[in-house]
Amino acid sequence: MDRIVQTFREEFDAAPAFVVRAPGRVNLIGEHTDYNDGFVLPLAIDRATWIALRPRPDRQVMVHALDFDDRDTFHLDELTPRQGSWANYIRGVAWALRQHGYPVVGWEGVIAGDVPIGAGLSSSASVEMATARAFAAVAGWPWDAARMALIGQYAENKWVGVNCGIMDQMISAAGVEGHALLIDCRTLDTTPFPLPAGVAVAVLDTATRRGLVDSAYNERRAQCEAAAGHFGVKALRDVTLAQLESARADLDPVIYRRARHVITENDRVLQACDAMRLGDAAALGRLLNAGHLSLRDDFQVSSRELDIMVEIAQSQPGCLGARMTGAGFGGCAVALMEEAAAGAFVAAVAERYAARTGLTPRLYVCRATGGAEVVARADHEPTPTVGTGGR
Ligand code: GLA
Repeated sequence: MDRIVQTFREEFDAAPAFVVRAPGRVNLIGEHTDYNDGFVLPLAIDRATWIALRPRPDRQVMVHALDFDDRDTFHLDELTPRQGSWANYIRGVAWALRQHGYPVVGWEGVIAGDVPIGAGLSSSASVEMATARAFAAVAGWPWDAARMALIGQYAENKWVGVNCGIMDQMISAAGVEGHALLIDCRTLDTTPFPLPAGVAVAVLDTATRRGLVDSAYNERRAQCEAAAGHFGVKALRDVTLAQLESARADLDPVIYRRARHVITENDRVLQACDAMRLGDAAALGRLLNAGHLSLRDDFQVSSRELDIMVEIAQSQPGCLGARMTGAGFGGCAVALMEEAAAGAFVAAVAERYAARTGLTPRLYVCRATGGAEVVARADHEPTPTVGTGGR
């Protein structure tokens, strides 16, 4: 925050009117369930995108990205994509807001963040939600987390061209400090659950990225839709394990396994909520372990490195459970451990993973933070809306 405020002061010779922040996320459990209208249990983490900004009267947006030493300027009424650039997420959110009839006004500012890019911690959702928060702040409309998450998802799906579900934007928009958030991805209802006392969450980045994630992700989505179609329901959320088992003979074996993952994973999320309600960290950890097996064997989205990372993590003293997290095929695992063991855990996992793979992992012990917010605001009247807000 100091970095962007200082740069803002140097560039504009004034204090920013607003500083906004939106976090990245790690998902505790509930993987590949969001686009099946199911349940997820992520937490917003203490790594975020920050924007210091002030309104402009001329419907232009001018942004300086400190981390890339790059700038972008665009007019709100003449939006064009900038493929492959950080700026495309900002443009995409502006476009999605206009498409949905939100009054948007111009602004100028400085953006920076510390969510590792491409690591599966939702750096793009954090940029999208910080951008939405910036537009809300300068135009003076109230923050509605679920609506803004849908705007971010719309931008990602239709502007950026990534076919993601709602989880990442929703947790970045609506996270609750010290809590994991149960999200019902059908209704977008949220329920916060406090992390059990004395338990730490670590993100374990395998330092591997897979090129074909998008096509494999879309293939999994199509398989889930095929399974739901077999039962004549909108989404796998509506199918029970008993129904699936009784239809097993009629189903393609691969489709059957994909569906079994989603159905059992939804159940694990609800069981995880029960465990958190009871403060039963050991039960929560066992659910993470079971979730990994299901992702590895039924949904088949793990990788050699993720399996090695999870196996090493699970065998450490004080580890309660571990699994791959996010879309899969590379990226990160998440581990739950006794807080007192966290230091030794991180050191031992890093050393053993490096020894087995030759790769240098990055490990982060995370704190659960709140969702997108205005963290500072100068005395300032909301800017009256200039021009049209789109459809
Ligand atoms: C990615 C997507 C999410 C979700 C996860 C898998 O992170 O962006 O919407 O589908 O994969 O759980």
